[in-house]
Formats: sequence, C-alpha cells, structure tokens
Amino acid sequence: MARVLSGIRSTGKLHLGNYLGAVTNFVKMQHEHDCYFFIADYHSLTTHPTPENLHNNVRQVLVEYLAAGMDPEAATIYVQSDVPEIPELYLLLNMNAYLGELERTTSFKEKARKQPENVNSGLLTYPVLMAADILIHQATHVPVGKDQEQNLEMARKFAKRFNRMYKTDLFRIPKAFNFDNELVKVPGLDGSGKMGKSEGNGLYLSDTEKQLRKKVMKAKTDAGPTEPNSPVSEPIQNLFTIMNLVSEPDVLQSFKDDYANCNIRYGDLKKQLSEDINKQVAPVRDRIEAIENDDEYLRKVVKMGREKARESASKTLSEVRKIIGFRAF
Ligand code: ADP
Ligand code: TRP
Repeated sequence: MARVLSGIRSTGKLHLGNYLGAVTNFVKMQHEHDCYFFIADYHSLTTHPTPENLHNNVRQVLVEYLAAGMDPEAATIYVQSDVPEIPELYLLLNMNAYLGELERTTSFKEKARKQPENVNSGLLTYPVLMAADILIHQATHVPVGKDQEQNLEMARKFAKRFNRMYKTDLFRIPKAFNFDNELVKVPGLDGSGKMGKSEGNGLYLSDTEKQLRKKVMKAKTDAGPTEPNSPVSEPIQNLFTIMNLVSEPDVLQSFKDDYANCNIRYGDLKKQLSEDINKQVAPVRDRIEAIENDDEYLRKVVKMGREKARESASKTLSEVRKIIGFRAF
C-alpha cells in the first residue's frame, strides 16, 4: 500500500483554489492510502513569526483542513513540532548534507534574495528537515507542487546516500506524486491568472455568503459578445471555468448557449456563480464555525495524531540510531 505524506505550511486561510486544487485530493486519498498529513510549524520558524502568530496559524490550518473533510481517524494528522523524532533525524541527516548542495537549491537562493537580512541556517537546511519529515515515516509517495520538486529530489538523495554509506536498505526512496499537471487550476476573478494568497484575489472558505457574493459580483467581465459565436475572452472564460467546477453541467451549458446567442447577462451569470460557490463553501464554513472554538475536540485530534505519528517515527529512528552505531550499554 502506498504511504502518502504531505506537509502543509502554516500560512493563512484556505481559498477555493487550495480547496478544489489540493485539499479535496487529500480527502479522497485518505480513504485509499495510508496517509500522513502534518502542519510544518518548524519550517515556518525560518521567517520568525511571533509566538501568537505561530500558534494561531497552526490552529487555523488544523481547523480548516478538518472542516474541509480531513479525517483524523482515517489519516494521521499531526503537528510537526509534536514529534521530537523528526528534529533528531534532521540532526543525523545534517551530517551527510553538504554545504555546496544546500547552497545550490533554488528555494534557498530565492529566499536568501527575498530576505537578505535573515539568511539563517534553518533556511539553508530546510530541505534536510523536509527529508526528515518524509523519511521518518518511510513515505513512498509525496504529493508536491512544482516548487517543491527539488526539495523532494534532495530527500531522495539523502535517503540513497544514507543507505549507501551504511550498506543498508532501511530508507525507502520516496516518489513525487505529481498531481499538479492533470489537476484543476482555479482562476482568479480579476481577469487573468490563478487564485492565490499572494495574488490577493482569494474566495476564502471562511468568507460569509455576503462576502463571497460581493467578490463574485465584482469579477472582471468584458463588453459582451457582439455577434453569434464570438470568441470568449479570458475574464469570461475564467467565470465559465469556475462554474464548471461548482455548478451543474446544464447550468453552465445554458450560460454558454446564451453567450453564443448574444443573450448573456453577466449579472445573472455572476449571481448564479456566487450561489453555486456558496453551496460548495457553506458546509465547510459551517464546520469551521463549529470546531474553531472546540478546544477539546482539537486537543483530542492533535493528541491522536501525535501518538500515531510518534509510534511510526520512533520505529524508524531506533533503526537509524542502531545503524549509525548508537548502542545501549
Ligand atoms: P497560494 O498560491 O494561495 O499561496 P500555496 O502555494 O500555499 O497556495 O498552495 C497550496 C496548495 O494549493 C498547493 O497544492 C497548490 O497547488 C494548491 N493551489 C493553490 N492555488 C491554487 C489554484 N488557484 N488552483 C488550484 N490549486 C491551487
Ligand atoms: N516545504 C513544503 C512547502 O513549502 C512543506 C513541507 C514540509 C513538506 N515538509 C514536507 C511537503 C514534507 C511535503 C513533504 O509547501
């Protein structure tokens, strides 16, 4: 059985793009594979969050993923800093990670350029910590976006290097689960490009119905079709693309027909779209509200995740320690 592992950075609220493009896949996978999902709070320290922000971000990510359907009974859902075996493996792997290769990674170079005042060694060894995350559970498949491919390649390299150095086959070599290509890309409502946190065009799972409607009604459009079957401009195509993801097929078809016949009214299109987006978001939003103040439930989820994660992690770590030569007296 595939063992799937993915880390989620604790940065901000989830938008419809994160939800339809990533989280719904995790939700599906948790019933098909042996899944580990964790919140990467050690990784978030490289940018020095305040103690309040660190905790609140972890909490928010946990709440939203649970609300979106991640099931702590089906998958192992945990907080990275709850598993001390991870930093220990990180320390051990660091001994075989070389300065030159770490300095050459694109993500390090990019971050060093973006925050020249804070080029700390956590940033440099970010891929080693990520390798520890993956190898501690012997993950076979790691779903990653394009930006994380090189980090995953480093994890493969560190695993092979360890196996070679100690003449062992302990570490399984993890594969990338590249679902980015075939997957849906949710566009923004501002005419071009994708929906994204840094794009500032997010329709958030925690937005109220009114907030969603307001954002959708403000979506960019054009002057309308001038003759039958005129080509569809990008802003309108984007509305159709989102509609394709959230509305019934006949609803989309009827607006496309209206467009082709020059009968379309963009106000009606947006109204329908905002209703259908809300239909998708409402159950998640309701669940966010139901659990965000439920400390007892969250504590239970985190505890269960910690126990399951440590059980698996401690097995790997004790093998590693034995292989390296740490032995009991
Ligand atoms: P953002 O771009 O908003 O900062 P992240 O880079 O943190 O989002 O991505 C988290 C996950 O959500 C990734 O798996 C990414 O592929 C997915 N994702 C982000 N934006 C979209 C989008 N507009 N459409 C589909 N998937 C998306
Ligand atoms: N670095 C990943 C990101 O920025 C998050 C992450 C940390 C991760 N550890 C991981 C992803 C292990 C997959 C596997 O998105």
